[in-house]
Amino acid sequence: MGEKDFSGEKDFSGEKHLSPPRLKTRLAPLLALAICLCLLAILSLTFISSSQYSAPLLANANEILAKCRALHLTPAPPDDFHKRQQSDRWDENLGGKPVLVRNASVWTGTGRVVYGDVLLDKGIIKALARVPTSLITNATDIVDAHGAWVTPGIVDLHSHLAVEPQPALSGATDGNSPHGPVLPWLRAADGLNTHDAAFRLALAGGVTTALVLPGSANAIGGQAFAIKLRPTTERSPSSMLVEPPFGLNGSDVDVDVEARPRWRHIKHACGSSHLPFSVYSQTRMDTFWNFRRAYTAAAALKSRQDAYCARALAHRWAGLGAFPEDVRWEALVDVLRGRVKVQTHCYEAVDIDDFVRLSNEFRFPVAAFHHAHEAYLVPRVLERAYGHTPAIAMFATFSRYKREAYRHSEFAPKVLAAEGVDVVMKSDHPGIIARYLLHEAQQAHFWGLPADAALKSVTSTPAQVMGLGHRVGAVREGDVVADELGYHADIVLWSAHPLQLGATPLQVWVDGIAQLPARPVPFSPPPASSAPRTPNFDAEANSTLEWEGLPPLAPRRAGGRVVFANVSAGWGWTRRGEVTGVGGVVVVEAGRIVAAARAREGDVVVDVQGGSLSPALVSAGSGLGLQEIAMEGSTTDGVAPDPLLGGRGAVRAVDGLQVGSRDALLAYRSGVTTAVSAPLPYGGVSVAFSLGAAHKLEEGAVVQERAALHVRIGHVGVPSVSTQVEALRNHLVKGDGEFGGVAKGETTLVVETHSADVIASLLSLKKAVEEKDGSKIKLTIFGASEAHILASDLAEAGVGVIVAPVRPQPYSWERRRVLPGPPLTEDDLITTLFKAGVTVGIAPQGVEGERAMSSWAARNARFDAAWVAAASGGVISKSDAHAMASSNIEKLLGVEADPTWGDIVVTQGGDLLSFEGKVVAVISPRRGVVDLL
Ligand SMILES: *[C@@H]1O[C@H](CO)[C@@H](O)[C@H](O)[C@H]1NC(C)=O
Ligand SMILES: *[C@@H]1O[C@H](CO)[C@@H](O)[C@H](O)[C@H]1NC(C)=O
Ligand SMILES: *[C@@H]1O[C@H](CO)[C@@H](O)[C@H](O)[C@H]1NC(C)=O
Ligand SMILES: *[C@@H]1O[C@H](CO)[C@@H](O)[C@H](O)[C@H]1NC(C)=O
Ligand SMILES: *[C@@H]1O[C@H](CO)[C@@H](O)[C@H](O)[C@H]1NC(C)=O
Repeated sequence: MGEKDFSGEKDFSGEKHLSPPRLKTRLAPLLALAICLCLLAILSLTFISSSQYSAPLLANANEILAKCRALHLTPAPPDDFHKRQQSDRWDENLGGKPVLVRNASVWTGTGRVVYGDVLLDKGIIKALARVPTSLITNATDIVDAHGAWVTPGIVDLHSHLAVEPQPALSGATDGNSPHGPVLPWLRAADGLNTHDAAFRLALAGGVTTALVLPGSANAIGGQAFAIKLRPTTERSPSSMLVEPPFGLNGSDVDVDVEARPRWRHIKHACGSSHLPFSVYSQTRMDTFWNFRRAYTAAAALKSRQDAYCARALAHRWAGLGAFPEDVRWEALVDVLRGRVKVQTHCYEAVDIDDFVRLSNEFRFPVAAFHHAHEAYLVPRVLERAYGHTPAIAMFATFSRYKREAYRHSEFAPKVLAAEGVDVVMKSDHPGIIARYLLHEAQQAHFWGLPADAALKSVTSTPAQVMGLGHRVGAVREGDVVADELGYHADIVLWSAHPLQLGATPLQVWVDGIAQLPARPVPFSPPPASSAPRTPNFDAEANSTLEWEGLPPLAPRRAGGRVVFANVSAGWGWTRRGEVTGVGGVVVVEAGRIVAAARAREGDVVVDVQGGSLSPALVSAGSGLGLQEIAMEGSTTDGVAPDPLLGGRGAVRAVDGLQVGSRDALLAYRSGVTTAVSAPLPYGGVSVAFSLGAAHKLEEGAVVQERAALHVRIGHVGVPSVSTQVEALRNHLVKGDGEFGGVAKGETTLVVETHSADVIASLLSLKKAVEEKDGSKIKLTIFGASEAHILASDLAEAGVGVIVAPVRPQPYSWERRRVLPGPPLTEDDLITTLFKAGVTVGIAPQGVEGERAMSSWAARNARFDAAWVAAASGGVISKSDAHAMASSNIEKLLGVEADPTWGDIVVTQGGDLLSFEGKVVAVISPRRGVVDLL
């Protein structure tokens, strides 16, 4: 059907128009019209015979002339835009009062910091820095920030909010149409679901504006729209749109031909995302042929319009007919007229090169390449794009999930910024959860993107790239630059400097309307009130470029004695009672710390600049060790049978173990030295292994061949959840295979599930089996997004929980009841479980909590743990959070760890659970080595 729909070229050659333009009747003064008609008639009669004269044409002449003159206008705000006193989005019903945020540190979005006050009124920023007392009335709401940080609202350049609403239910996923590779006439605005649970959560992360794009299953997926995330009085998708194009209400795009048009947006996609739609599975050659075919059709229509207008403007009306228009191609014609922001999903150098060629062939600029995992390798190609160098919209560390993302580097933002390319961090929500978009900027900063560029990457830069830089992404007003009045009153007041781990909005205003329940601002100056001092990664970034994105990652093994100097009496490392450094010096020999030793000649000396030693982290339940690239079957262990229902028993992960994957080595280099992985996707017997091992037979490579027995219970349709629970009961009662060890209380049973209802069934089942057998079953819940509902029951039953992903999201119905935590609720899932006395572990954030899609995120365990502590409001200490990412996981997954043999991570410049520390070495007593990283 798509192919048939596509054959637009044929339609152009004839006079067929799907939707002829509806020319608006104007209320021009009758006199002027009469004069005009007379003049036209005279002119026409001069050049054409009276037989060609047509009355309706003349009646339209002014319309046509105005339309033709407007064809060459490019988008811009009206001249008096910055003089406005009230926002077009202001809604008195939702926030009547002006707001004064007093004594704030305002990061303005322009690279400037202003200390002072911000006045919001009628949806715009009215004053900044020193607010004249005349503007403050007794109706003004005053918020004392006590010096805390204020930034513009977070702007997300790439979101599927509302078109892929949560919890995902059938019939409500409007991200992609399967009806053809080229669909420029589709509009995301037509599919916005106003009930997406993610709106409120994203607002709680400070996100105020998002560009909602169609998905990437088509070469041209359709038109995108910018929205504000706040609820509106009208409760409609239309009322959420920011500066929608004038023609949205009709088929005539530029209804008001006198005004400068507004920016439109369109989604294009290169590469292999089309593949899941087998009907439209395309090679790259097909995709680019589709682009060229579509733009050839649009260019033909454009030149017919231009020829038509050349005649009209010369008053050669004879036989002119109607203005050439085709509702299917008008959006691409507008691209060719430079009126559309082209947002293009392209991953690899080949895609980027192809698309740059396309932009030059058809002469249109590219607003941004999205994902663009290889853009940092080809900056010269980016410069060759038509018009200007596109911005690059990226993830921080989300990568290697498919071949196209294999060469991504965490240094890409740093490298591109140094090349002068505009860097944007984006969510691709729900790829990365919109609520945590700022964390992408924080990570980019950690890996070398300068602080200012990092904050701009989620505020002013995306705002400019989407053509809304005059409205959002900055905190500005007339006091500073006379012509900049009227910025939207979208600001966030933060609990800490926004580049600090765990920084949380205290309040978010959108269009001047407060979006969160009021929370007290910490009275003393907020902790961590400046950006973190991040490590230097120049050498690593250079090596990445030298190796085209695949630098060698294997650690350098130090043979003799290694001395770590300038070790701070840092947290955690004395826990084992075996570390006795002298003056901050720690001496290691054959992988063991030598008590009270001093450095001597010939030692390898590492200056850790006040860094620390801490027990290494352990990764739970990812695909580490079973895959290199999750979506490339040939690089994985493959699909193991379901131990619960397959009838073939449980297979052992150790038998398919692959060591040395890039994700494994990157995790190792971030202080995660052991992983416990179960067969994918259902479960089986997990293995605990060292991420730094060169091969499986190396001493200490396999830490424990059989850790726990893993099964998965959840909604799959057939068989039912009840059938799955019944199967588990039968296995435990019969004690068959690996389940025998579970029933006897020897083997740990790990059940991957999210629903509180399933967890409740499991607690009942455990009790029943224990009462019958007189045993004590070791049960761990993995996933557990709704476990807070049963916190005290879990504690009472002695059942531990591994929270996966570490920050739950209502992806599906089974996980809809998430406890969002501050600023929406006082506690979150982890603090609730912790307070109830449940043993808690944390697993990588990953994507949708799918184990196979979380290996890339294992490296972020140190930041995830730090975040748990920071977000708990003092309930969970750093060392408790550290245990959740290390010893608790071992305990919960049946790994019998001897603490004196555990790995120790050495960090430079700061500790492991911070943005300051750089992992420089792993001391491994078990393997008798020191790995220098
Ligand atoms: C606020 O000020 C107005 C005008 O100055 C005055 O009429 C009104 O009574 C004041 N309201 C309060 C609650 O003080
Ligand atoms: C701003 O807040 C800080 C921290 O509470 C305080 O030290 C400072 O005096 C305040 N400044 C003003 C002008 O109120
Ligand atoms: C569409 O129509 C509605 C209702 O008349 C109006 O409020 C809105 O401004 C129009 N939108 C555009 C983009 O013209
Ligand atoms: C990295 O490369 C740049 C550019 O070639 C060079 O100026 C810089 O010195 C290098 N830095 C390191 C640490 O290798
Ligand atoms: C420890 O740090 C100081 C100050 O930076 C430095 O001078 C000294 O060389 C360092 N010690 C070693 C052994 O690297």
